Amino acid sequence: MMKNTIKLLSGLLVTFACAGSAMAQSSVVKSVGNVTNVQVNGQQVNLTTANAHVQVTVYSPSVIRVRMDKQQLGRDFSYAVIAQPEKVKATITQTGDNVSIVTDSVKLVIGKKPFHTTFYTLDNKVISEDETGLNTSWVNESVTTYKHMQPGEHFVGLGEKTGNLDRKGNGYTNWNSDTYGYRTDQDPIYSDIPFYIGVHHDVNYGIFMDNTYQSDFNFGASNNRFSSFSARGGEMNYYFIYHKQLADIITSYTALTGRMKMPPLWSLGYQQNRYSYYPDTEVMRIAQTLREKKIPADGITLDIHYMDKYKVFTWDKQRFPDPAKMNAKLKDMGFKLTVIVDPGVKAEKGYGVYERGLKDDIFIKYADSTNYTGEVWPGWCHFPDFTAEKGRNWWQAEIKKYADDGISGIWNDMNEISTWGQKMPDNVLFNYDGQTASHLQGRNIYGLNMARASFEGFRKALNKRPFILTRSGYAGLQRYTAIWTGDNRAEDDHMLMGVRLLTSLGMSGVPFTGMDIGGFTGNPTVPLYTRWMQIGAFTPYFRNHTGVNTKSAEPWAFGEEALEIVRNYINLRYKLMPFVYSSFYEATQNGHPVVRSLAINYTHDEKVYSAKYQNQYEFGNGFMVAPFASTETYGTVYFPKGQWYNLYNDELIAGNQEKIMPVTIQTLPVFVKESSIIPMQSLVQSTSEKPTDTLTVHIYKGNLNNSFVYYEDDGESYNYENGSFYKRTITYDAARKQITFAKAEGSVASKFKHIKVQFHGFGNATVKVNNKSVKTNTEAMSFLKAISSFDPQGTVNKADGNNTQSIMLDSNSNAFTISY
Ligand code: NOJ
Repeated sequence: MMKNTIKLLSGLLVTFACAGSAMAQSSVVKSVGNVTNVQVNGQQVNLTTANAHVQVTVYSPSVIRVRMDKQQLGRDFSYAVIAQPEKVKATITQTGDNVSIVTDSVKLVIGKKPFHTTFYTLDNKVISEDETGLNTSWVNESVTTYKHMQPGEHFVGLGEKTGNLDRKGNGYTNWNSDTYGYRTDQDPIYSDIPFYIGVHHDVNYGIFMDNTYQSDFNFGASNNRFSSFSARGGEMNYYFIYHKQLADIITSYTALTGRMKMPPLWSLGYQQNRYSYYPDTEVMRIAQTLREKKIPADGITLDIHYMDKYKVFTWDKQRFPDPAKMNAKLKDMGFKLTVIVDPGVKAEKGYGVYERGLKDDIFIKYADSTNYTGEVWPGWCHFPDFTAEKGRNWWQAEIKKYADDGISGIWNDMNEISTWGQKMPDNVLFNYDGQTASHLQGRNIYGLNMARASFEGFRKALNKRPFILTRSGYAGLQRYTAIWTGDNRAEDDHMLMGVRLLTSLGMSGVPFTGMDIGGFTGNPTVPLYTRWMQIGAFTPYFRNHTGVNTKSAEPWAFGEEALEIVRNYINLRYKLMPFVYSSFYEATQNGHPVVRSLAINYTHDEKVYSAKYQNQYEFGNGFMVAPFASTETYGTVYFPKGQWYNLYNDELIAGNQEKIMPVTIQTLPVFVKESSIIPMQSLVQSTSEKPTDTLTVHIYKGNLNNSFVYYEDDGESYNYENGSFYKRTITYDAARKQITFAKAEGSVASKFKHIKVQFHGFGNATVKVNNKSVKTNTEAMSFLKAISSFDPQGTVNKADGNNTQSIMLDSNSNAFTISY
């Protein structure tokens, strides 16, 4: 009796408490509410709810878009999404309680009381569901969708975000910011990509919230009840992506937001930079020293001191009296020049750029139509409105001059927008392509649109592929530009965190990424510099850069041993150029990044998310790199399932194991996945030098099936879009014990006459080509040059010993099959 009374009382208390919170909810938190009307229109469902308007659109069998607003949905406009919904088979049915949408890949059930989404696999496993009771709601103008946190859920991606690979337990804000010398857990930094991937119970999905207001992502930072994403204004607008394989989620995300075009080949070579090389004689000294010391390199970059008092689109005539002549000399030596540009245009009477900007009325403004003024390098500046077509056109016209000066690349800096003091007022207005937006909505896409204007303008001016680099950006930036991670520090933690920034950007659709190798602030120790340059050789944008007050950071500035080691790795990068270029080609086709977190191919392996192994990554389809701090003498490497080869000595290592190994500064731990196909060329000093006429394709024996698309084109024009390329799919069929080179595609012949196939791990196997036995050559080979005095443990140059066999073939022959 007593017990029952207590039960009753506590029941009443709960009822009162709920009523209290419901009242609070209705006045302060406005939830989307119950569905009152449903209209099905082809692949689209429009719903009216108690407090909102909702539109659900099937974009493809694997992509479903959800839009919601408190008012009628407005203009459908995006800087990120370039795809239209595909025509797909979608079965849409309704009951009194829900609406269900089924495609060939995913099922979405929308509960009506209240509006509530649950995404299922076709065999009814929950992929992602709104958190019951929270769903989607507004607090003032801020809108949030709450998703139930699945037990054991991991979160990866979200673009350029510091911290761990697994974002669980953390919250992040998207608000592009200039963050000089940022901490390894600082947030936000320079660019934002509101796209992440969730992983749990053998499923994975992506969510891209396309809203450019300041936004927040919460991956259980509050508690384990929910993950959420919010924007401080505008619509809730997200794309849900489901595939069985995580890599396919990246493919679908980049189908929405676009993929990169082929980069100029030279931009994949080594680039030397500092803040700043000047005058011209110093630039030439750097170029000459690189050549004299036989350090392969393709790029030199000029930082702000080349300008006349930091004024964009000018030259300091004392320091650089004849830029075109300097560039011609550099080109003869095989170098391409990139120059920095900043968006701030000095407000100075008589400065042509500024006068033309005023005349064309292209600067961002306050509501009273006066131009916004902020202070940056040149002093008080106005800022072009890159969100207006006329702003972008104006910039394109200005940038042309650089083509006449012989420049090959444009480095877009300070485009968050950065102004001294960082406090840009909210009431600054952006055109936002026809629908005026405040700073709150315009900031996060400013950098993207600057890079876009630079890309489009410079591409026209050069009439070939430009190299474009940006510091700030938004989803879709990969269509126009490469990105680097800003002003890091010369510290081990930064080097390792930099790797994670690149792998996270990779999972967020951006393949062309880099960091300031050696660190921007401070001075690296010799081992740190050496280790960082080794890692750099296995990153997409391979540039050494350092700040204005730091010591020299060219490869020869750290002593003989460091120079030898660093040169060894730059050499390796150049020999790997056919592999690297083909990896970029892959990114243009399916969006897969060049640096790949292990989460991409080993998604459901828990070890991949541990702090211990989170820095390991795959480089293209073939290598696994294990970066360790320069202070370590021992390291534990995790080998995911399968088999791996030590790059340097072909030692075969079983997967599914953690292996402790000595780490020396002479070699970066790099491993090759079984069944890999790795095309390489002879050493050159720049990409403008012709390698020998033999392409060496390394094949690693294994039990996996694999395929690699080898790709070549002229490296500089867009003729490849009309078929001017040479491409060959090479397939490894483990069960049949066959490697097949398919017929070449494309209208040009290979630049290599011969293909040498080099076998690793095959012992003395007899090899047949098209069923005929062929004689193999046996030779010793190594990926690095021996520098025995620096290699006490003898890890380098022990590769393969006499076991490496190879055969020679004609690169323009028809399809052929090698069996072993
Ligand atoms: C800030 C950039 O992040 C840095 O790389 C550059 O050297 C300086 N601006 C000077 O332009």
